[in-house]
Amino acid sequence: MHIHKTEKAVLGLTIALLVVFLGALFYSAFGMGVMLQGRHGELDPKAVRETPPFDEPGVFERGPNEYEVVMLGSAWSFSPNEVRIPAGSTVTFRATATDVIHGFHVERTRINVMLIPGQVARVTYTFDEPGEHLIICHEYCGIGHHQMYGKVIVE
Ligand code: CUA
Repeated sequence: MHIHKTEKAVLGLTIALLVVFLGALFYSAFGMGVMLQGRHGELDPKAVRETPPFDEPGVFERGPNEYEVVMLGSAWSFSPNEVRIPAGSTVTFRATATDVIHGFHVERTRINVMLIPGQVARVTYTFDEPGEHLIICHEYCGIGHHQMYGKVIVE
């Protein structure tokens, strides 16, 4: 079989690029530890409100400048709806949904996860600057979707 010179070059380049991209993917995952934010445990989606820690959603101080927020998303609000923390706090959100899939995005941060009934999402972020961030549901979850938001207030 005869393969044209240019065709050979393009094939070679394509294969080389694939190797480079795969290498970059493996390097970021295993060398740098870049992982998707997300799944940290499972629970019975029908008994979320009875399962600790989700039986008691809220903001908890876990150490100096360290907070944990146990968060529930349900149609069409977040609980707690307002998170108030001092500037410089590192906050770990543990969140899930009680009914359907919701989104959990904190404006102007890299916090961006899906809340899936039966799965626990966990994400940690340090809020350095004082200010307000909206918490937005960015997964369409029914007629009240556009009204589903909360607030992180950094003091
Ligand atoms: Cu909850 Cu959209």
